Amino acid sequence: MTEAMPVTLAKLHGKVAIVTGAARGIGAFTARHFADHGARVVVIADVQDSKGKEVAASIGSHRCTYVHCDVTDEDQVKSLVDSTVEQYGQLDVMFSNAGIMSASVQTVLELDLSWYDKVMAVNARGNAACVKHAARAMVGKGVRGSIVCTASFVAECGSESATDYTMSKHAVLGLVRSASVQLAARGVRVNCVSPGLVGTPLVTETFKIGEEELKEKLAAVYTGSEGPMMEKHVADAVVFLASQESAFVTGQNLVVEGGFGSKSLSTILKP
Ligand SMILES: NC(=O)c1ccc[n+]([C@@H]2O[C@H](COP(=O)([O-])OP(=O)(O)OC[C@H]3O[C@@H](n4cnc5c(N)ncnc54)[C@H](O)[C@@H]3O)[C@@H](O)[C@H]2O)c1
Repeated sequence: MTEAMPVTLAKLHGKVAIVTGAARGIGAFTARHFADHGARVVVIADVQDSKGKEVAASIGSHRCTYVHCDVTDEDQVKSLVDSTVEQYGQLDVMFSNAGIMSASVQTVLELDLSWYDKVMAVNARGNAACVKHAARAMVGKGVRGSIVCTASFVAECGSESATDYTMSKHAVLGLVRSASVQLAARGVRVNCVSPGLVGTPLVTETFKIGEEELKEKLAAVYTGSEGPMMEKHVADAVVFLASQESAFVTGQNLVVEGGFGSKSLSTILKP
């Protein structure tokens, strides 16, 4: 979407949003989607500074800024949220999306426990810090905001080759379900989106597959009514959860995977 959307259709009109893990992939696309849907400002956060700054500049310096934030460091997450509130008055939407994958394709027999610690630090602890500080900012200002975390299609099933990643995404569900109950009376909603397979660097790097080869494989097997699954399909779901269209939806896991399930994925990506 490039043209300005009429205010009546802009689902996030005037909102102040943070998107973590927004230097590339699903986060970068969703940050742009937030701006296209009328967000007043989108603060994007990541550890890849030059890429993050490029994304912010391409969205437009009048409505998007980049902040360095490693979500494994609670102080950095607090400072990201505090500086956003200080500068823009409040926080309406937190999209806690930063995530990393397993070190390699491995079963529990080869589980790399030092990498397990890293995966849990980003995917489980990082999400907890983002939900905690976003919720504190919203409750503190009396904002009836929306928090959306990124889980995965493996958040509610087992996977053949990513034990630590699957465990971390199960943890996201526990976080979202608990926080949603605790924050309901304050008007803060907490949900997660669970993407199926999207051809981002996370997938190409982990499965050591070229972008073109992955695209071909996805187009052959993993094709829905609009062709292969893209970042846009996830971003549309996040905008829905962030907006008033989902006013009575909280504590939910919105799975966006076209009905393909994890079995077909391992077949597609078999090295
Ligand atoms: N691509 C898929 O098929 C898929 C499927 C299910 C779930 N997901 C989830 O979607 C989210 C986004 O993934 P993606 O596919 O866009 O991956 P990606 O690797 O393209 O993007 C992830 C971003 O997170 C950032 N990041 C990593 N560690 C960080 C940290 N400690 N602090 C701040 N930022 C950090 C990275 O620098 C990167 O910019 C992740 O949570 C991932 O687990 C992706």
